[in-house]
Amino acid sequence: MPRISEETIRRVAEATDIVDLVSSYFPLKRAGTSWRATCPFHNEKTPSFHVSPARQSFHCFGCGAGGGVFRFVMDYEHLPFAEAVRRLASKSGIPVVEEAGNSSDDRAENLRRRLLSIHALAAQWFHTNLMKSPEAEAARSYLKSRAIGTLIAKTWQIGFAPDSWDDLPDLLREQKFTNSEILQSGLVSSRDGEDAQQEGTANFYSRFRGRIMFPIHNDYGEVIAFSGRVLEADAKAAKYVNSPETKLFSKGRVLYGLNHSKRALIEVKEAIVCEGQLDTISAFEAGVKNVIAPQGTAFTHDQARLLARFVETVVLCFDSDKAGQEATSRSLPALLECGLGVKVARLPEGSDPDSVIRSDGPDAFRQIVATAKDFFDHAIERTIESGAMSDPAKVAAASRKLGGFVDLISDPVRREKVVGRICSKFGIPIPVFTAQRRQAKPQKSFHQNTQEETVIEPPLVLSQAMKILCRHALIHPESRQWLSENGGSAAADIEEGGQLLQKIVGCPHGFHDAGDFSVFVASLPQHLERVVVSIDTRIVETDMLETTKECWLALVEPSIRSRLQAASAKFSSRDLSSQESQSIREEIQNLSNKLRNLVGD
Ligand code: CTP
Ligand code: MN
Repeated sequence: MPRISEETIRRVAEATDIVDLVSSYFPLKRAGTSWRATCPFHNEKTPSFHVSPARQSFHCFGCGAGGGVFRFVMDYEHLPFAEAVRRLASKSGIPVVEEAGNSSDDRAENLRRRLLSIHALAAQWFHTNLMKSPEAEAARSYLKSRAIGTLIAKTWQIGFAPDSWDDLPDLLREQKFTNSEILQSGLVSSRDGEDAQQEGTANFYSRFRGRIMFPIHNDYGEVIAFSGRVLEADAKAAKYVNSPETKLFSKGRVLYGLNHSKRALIEVKEAIVCEGQLDTISAFEAGVKNVIAPQGTAFTHDQARLLARFVETVVLCFDSDKAGQEATSRSLPALLECGLGVKVARLPEGSDPDSVIRSDGPDAFRQIVATAKDFFDHAIERTIESGAMSDPAKVAAASRKLGGFVDLISDPVRREKVVGRICSKFGIPIPVFTAQRRQAKPQKSFHQNTQEETVIEPPLVLSQAMKILCRHALIHPESRQWLSENGGSAAADIEEGGQLLQKIVGCPHGFHDAGDFSVFVASLPQHLERVVVSIDTRIVETDMLETTKECWLALVEPSIRSRLQAASAKFSSRDLSSQESQSIREEIQNLSNKLRNLVGD
């Protein structure tokens, strides 16, 4: 993958102030030389989240989160490093310069960028059509009839695909996209079928014609696909046509609206889940902002996991019809297994969030969401309402069905509570319910093979001497120089925390200014980043080199002495070949020199 150049990272870090950055997300209060807030990364009442302008870093004494400006954006926005850099670069208007990496990765990354460009261009073109083209008059008035005016259309980049087979492919070719790229974007269909998707074959046509276009964004706002809806008048064609699976888009991994609702999801810790685009847009624009949609399909495990990064519970607002009920049941395994609490909102017969908002207003919808019940309570209630309680066979069937879902709840306390509620409502003794669950075929679990979350390593503890050495190596060039000449680059052999010293000593550009420090911090794995930002790099004392030598000696002397002892013992006790004795002699010589060097001057 192309890497963002060090120079870019440095410039972006220099242009970004950590206090401004963090305050753009939530307010900070001054506390002496640093700033404070309650930590956004764990639940707490008293503020232990500190932001240090001097060190351009943040640190939470409660949960141990910490790092520099890039880490903050990565953790807070759930972005990978490169995206965090890009985000901050665009805030400061700094161009991102990339360097070549591995060539096959480069090709894939290059194709991804080309496909993203195609989507950005197409979204822009569809949108301009909708706003300006005379041909889109019917689309505009249709959208108006659904309460979508210019402003909303702009926010969601809604567009219109003209009823033409060639306009879009022509435009893309004009912009020098290759036939292969155009085909791979999924915006066109091939007349020759799948086999002909190679360079040179240009026999394709627009997939979307005469449709209102909803761009689908990834969670940081790039267009990666489209969903096109027919105007109401046209009843023959499918209501929605979607992009096929492409290098950019996999339907089961994307949640519609997430780019807009991310902030609100994190704040509220609850997601309102609608079926499709129009429900999502309606709810969001009515002020219910923590809303997303899996787009007409049941939740996949990928989608559930994505959502679980932002929220603790979901409120399913699927249609009240049979299809909506089924979508609820089919979404449950993925959601429960990801540890999400699931509530079900009861929409009036025949309505969806959009229609409720339009006919009864946002408050009515809010009310429905607020009274949503836990899935299990909802299901118990439905069973009772259906009159099944008078028929033991039906009660057994219902409890068997619920039992299957109960086993998917990952938290044991939560699970036992649900068991208690089901048993008491259904009038079944708990052991009977448990036996029934044991007999039942276990639900297929997706859990084991889909865990790919980044593992956060445990905090690294540095010995006192190692901490001092790291500090000195960072702020005192002579100490760093001395350490690099006296074995500091193998500091990890001494203790685990030596990894950090090793990196500091090995840092090719040294530490001359704040930019150097930021570039260095950005290059560290998370467990080291957390340690390095807790080091106070402000005060330079007078006799630092002396202290450096003392600390280093304290750390390495015991190990050198014991190695020396071992070598001497070996030397005197064995019949050695001349070659062996020569090499041991050299080792002893080396170790003695080392020791003399350290203790000596
Ligand atoms: N959907 C789809 N393909 C279809 C039908 C539906 O991808 N052929 C998805 C769309 O994301 C759609 C969602 O399923 O938004 C829900 O479908 P439906 O309830 O039929 O549409 P609404 O979103 O309610 O749209 P409208 O209000 O315009 O009928
Ligand atoms: Mn609808």
